[in-house]
Amino acid sequence: MDPSAPILLFDSGIGGLTVLAELRKILPQAPVIYAADTAGLPYGAKTEAEIAARVSGLLGRLAERYRPRLICIACNTASTIALGMVREVLHVPIVGTVPAIKPAAEMTRTGTIGLLGTAATIRQAYVDNLQAEFAADKRLLRFAAPDLVSAAEAKLRGEAVDPDIYRQAAEGLRSQPGGADIDTVVLACTHFPLVEDGLAAAFGPGVRFVHGAQGIARRIAFLTGDNEMRRERPDFALFTGGASQFEALLPALVKYGLDHADRF
Ligand code: SIN
Repeated sequence: MDPSAPILLFDSGIGGLTVLAELRKILPQAPVIYAADTAGLPYGAKTEAEIAARVSGLLGRLAERYRPRLICIACNTASTIALGMVREVLHVPIVGTVPAIKPAAEMTRTGTIGLLGTAATIRQAYVDNLQAEFAADKRLLRFAAPDLVSAAEAKLRGEAVDPDIYRQAAEGLRSQPGGADIDTVVLACTHFPLVEDGLAAAFGPGVRFVHGAQGIARRIAFLTGDNEMRRERPDFALFTGGASQFEALLPALVKYGLDHADRF
């Protein structure tokens, strides 16, 4: 394998940066390309068929052009819908991002877990299966919080976020039967850890948040090994949408070690 073959992180927007941040800690020398389907954002409002077609089409193009050593679908919505399908057609290791229900079930003391995701993610059989496998004896309450995706994007652009967005997410879980007992919340969208502070303030003390970024980074490191990668040019980002939308994010991207951004 070419030592400069990159790890390709793919998301609908900037949520995958939460995975990139963890990956940098474990594999600082790993060459990375960060690809964001900003023209398709938000995935959470799309149908399963639309998401599957977009994700497999774009990843096919990216894999052919950049020959990554590994692809990480750093997006819960895309992973819960398209992971199996993409794995069948692309001959490269693919790591997905799935809701961290297992660690949440191990952490909860009250036995009541909240899950925040996109509308598309929370209705997936994939989530039902994770619940059945790892949290069958727990209560799992789900709430679709698409506004948190735009809040995370806005926050990264340096814009103010209306705290009502966080309050609505907390209320959406708390108001369900048994919701007052929630002590652990799964952030089932890679965007959401970027707004964890706002959520923590809205939920109040006694609630812990769980997401998969660290575990995904460890999985990538395990699959790639850390001894034969070399960055031969600065890491960069790719995006599908309007340039102005992405240029506003550039100062933040630089903090994640991404030197510039191009369209793909
Ligand atoms: C979105 O595009 O709606 C967010 C995707 C995700 O990480 O689930």
